[in-house]
Amino acid sequence: MSEQHLTMQILHREGLSRIGRFKTAHGFVDTPNIMPVINPNLKTLPIETMKKLGTQAIITNSYIIRRNADLKEEALRKGLHGLIGFDGTIMTDSGTFQSYVYGDVEFRNRDTVDFQIEIKSDISTILDIFSTPADSHEKAYNAVKETHSRFLEIEDVADRYNVSGPIQGSIYNDLRRKSARLMSNTMASYLPVGGVVPLLEQYKYSKLVDIILESKLNSDFSKPIHLFGGGHPMFMGMAVLLGIDMFDSASYVKYARDDRLLYTDGTRYLPDIAELPYWSPLNNRFSIREIKGMESKERFSILAEHNLFAIFQELSEIRERIRENTLWQYVESKSRAHPSLYAAFRRILTYSKRIEPYFELYRKSPLFHFGSETNRSPYGVRLKKMEPEKGTYFTLSSREWSPARLSHDFIKNVYEKSRGTFCINWSGLKIPVEMEEAYPVEQVIQREERESSTPGFDRNYGFEKIRDFNLEKVRMIADFQFGSGTGLKMFTDDCEISISRNTGRIRTISKSGTILATMRAHDGFLGLTFEGGLKLHEISEGVKNRVMVTDESAQFNSQGKSVFFRFIVKLDRNILPLNDVLVVDPQDRLVAVGRALVSGKEMSMYKDGVAVSINHHVK
Ligand code: GUN
Repeated sequence: MSEQHLTMQILHREGLSRIGRFKTAHGFVDTPNIMPVINPNLKTLPIETMKKLGTQAIITNSYIIRRNADLKEEALRKGLHGLIGFDGTIMTDSGTFQSYVYGDVEFRNRDTVDFQIEIKSDISTILDIFSTPADSHEKAYNAVKETHSRFLEIEDVADRYNVSGPIQGSIYNDLRRKSARLMSNTMASYLPVGGVVPLLEQYKYSKLVDIILESKLNSDFSKPIHLFGGGHPMFMGMAVLLGIDMFDSASYVKYARDDRLLYTDGTRYLPDIAELPYWSPLNNRFSIREIKGMESKERFSILAEHNLFAIFQELSEIRERIRENTLWQYVESKSRAHPSLYAAFRRILTYSKRIEPYFELYRKSPLFHFGSETNRSPYGVRLKKMEPEKGTYFTLSSREWSPARLSHDFIKNVYEKSRGTFCINWSGLKIPVEMEEAYPVEQVIQREERESSTPGFDRNYGFEKIRDFNLEKVRMIADFQFGSGTGLKMFTDDCEISISRNTGRIRTISKSGTILATMRAHDGFLGLTFEGGLKLHEISEGVKNRVMVTDESAQFNSQGKSVFFRFIVKLDRNILPLNDVLVVDPQDRLVAVGRALVSGKEMSMYKDGVAVSINHHVK
């Protein structure tokens, strides 16, 4: 990709969702965001009103402009921005959707893209082939191949300008996967997921989960992912949770035309409502009676304003949720707004194993645990990896454990006098007690009435202390963070553990007077010192826990400066976001330890920004 191309810069994240920004010739676009659709023939809302509501980018159709002699002439003379009267980012679509609705269009791919470039579109679109959900696998496969060829046909232009390459593939997961990979490997700097409008209109959200995830997980994360036509606020949170950055929508206009008002979790018909919602921008300007009595043109325009406001309001909430790391919870609670959303939420749970590697080691927010459904979420699936084999453990009752408190009596009189495996029971998920402080075990918020069963073990366990709970704890957490077996190798029996006098919690783990790791109070995980990094480096081989950087970068990193994506040579794909990693030079010599800001799966894709922030470096 060249310098002219837009790329995603990531500011905040939660799993696959992200707050980012990209830049075009007409400024920054903050994501997640929506491009309201503007039909150059009918200006529904004044541009000033749209800007006031928060519009940073719009999308319009180059096909409509080109077919109309006056619009075409004006666009060529003044440029697209002059024609529309908007100075922000303008993306253009190609006529693909018209060809889907009305049959063939009269223009060809090459001249369609050339025209968009000529009128100075910020992001142009090829004439892709819209596959419908009803298409056969064979037909959809041919459409994926043809869409890819059409991109290759204009790659010389895409080398210099931002051109979007839609991902097609109908309802077929293998084809979405293929299309996402093909389009990611072209010069396309922007990747819309196409062919989904019929599914969105029919509330087929479960199928959309498949389509979005197959597309996202197989695409280049440095490129914004757009959902073509996904502008109903009801589904936006879920789409963002699955990795969508951008939306476009004519829904604010389409619904207004039918006298429908958008709400963040559904739609209402104007004649049916008695009150305007309190948050509506129309409140205090018009009474509901006035609106109902308006002549249709005026009503259409103000309802469009209300609808666009509802969309921006939802986007603002979604962004706030990502910042506070509660988007998963938000989507989970919103999924009760409609049975199709609930079905889709349950479909997401079937992907938990695949999406778990993208979720941070810890979140700022607690884990809301609602029962076995939460156990199937990415954090539940992650904890499940620590579950002991059946029949080899004892479970604790609520007398021995409730969040953030494991009974002292149990530790001293049972745990440390036995060799048994003891687990906390979360609606069937068995979590080793040594994980009690690590996210999300301590940070869980559970239902009030916890089952208070009797413990499944007896208390007569000899008289001698035969192991140390704190040592077992740091070993277990090291296994969780750095791989099975590392705990025992890193923290041998001669380690010293210091305990905070104030909180009674572990503070540091040392060996022969040298601190190897500290235990963080907020998430219960280990933070490695440089010496701890050396130890981990010594016991782990290959790329495990490592980010290998160029010699030049290693020089900077060894002085405490961050690792930038572009200087990474090799890395461990299993790195979790926010986990500690070893930064090594091309000869595999440790230069620093730091915190990975994205997952190992994404790290090689980004071009701009920081991959690892350094905590400690070689002296
Ligand atoms: N608008 C809605 N869906 C699509 C699509 O699949 N491709 C293009 N180019 N535009 C769309």
